[in-house]
Amino acid sequence: MNTRTGALIFLSLLLVAATGSGSDAAGGNVAKGKVLYSNICIRCHGIDGKGDVPMKFNPPVADLSAPAAQSKLDGTLMKAIHDGRKDTAMGAWKFVLSDEEIRDVTAYVRVLGSAASRKLP
Ligand code: HEC
Repeated sequence: MNTRTGALIFLSLLLVAATGSGSDAAGGNVAKGKVLYSNICIRCHGIDGKGDVPMKFNPPVADLSAPAAQSKLDGTLMKAIHDGRKDTAMGAWKFVLSDEEIRDVTAYVRVLGSAASRKLP
């Protein structure tokens, strides 16, 4: 390996370390994420993420505010949004949203989680 290749590999490793290999919603823009959520996700996941909407699905919509979703890593949530869930109503949003937008909407999904926990007694 020459010095140049070595330097490139070192830089790539630094990038992966700094960005957590792209699996970190921290740094996502919550305001932009809220707009995306309100335009796209709200009709199934509801205003507060609880999925309390007139449309019913089988399997049902995930409650994004609940610990079942909030305990998952950012990367896991982003993958679900990116690729969708096979054989469910959750589609692959990679055809509609950029990676940055998926990060933004994931940051907003985290807000739905903290809003729900604030309402607990
Ligand atoms: C057509 C209805 C529909 C729309 C629109 C929709 N979802 Fe979903 N979503 C679902 C369903 C149904 C599930 C549950 C899938 C399953 O059972 O695995 C789900 C699951 C998820 C999950 C996985 C939760 C977990 O616990 O793993 C995330 C995250 C999610 N949706 C985010 C979003 C976001 C963000 C948007 C908007 C970009 C969106 N969804 C749009 C129906 C929808």
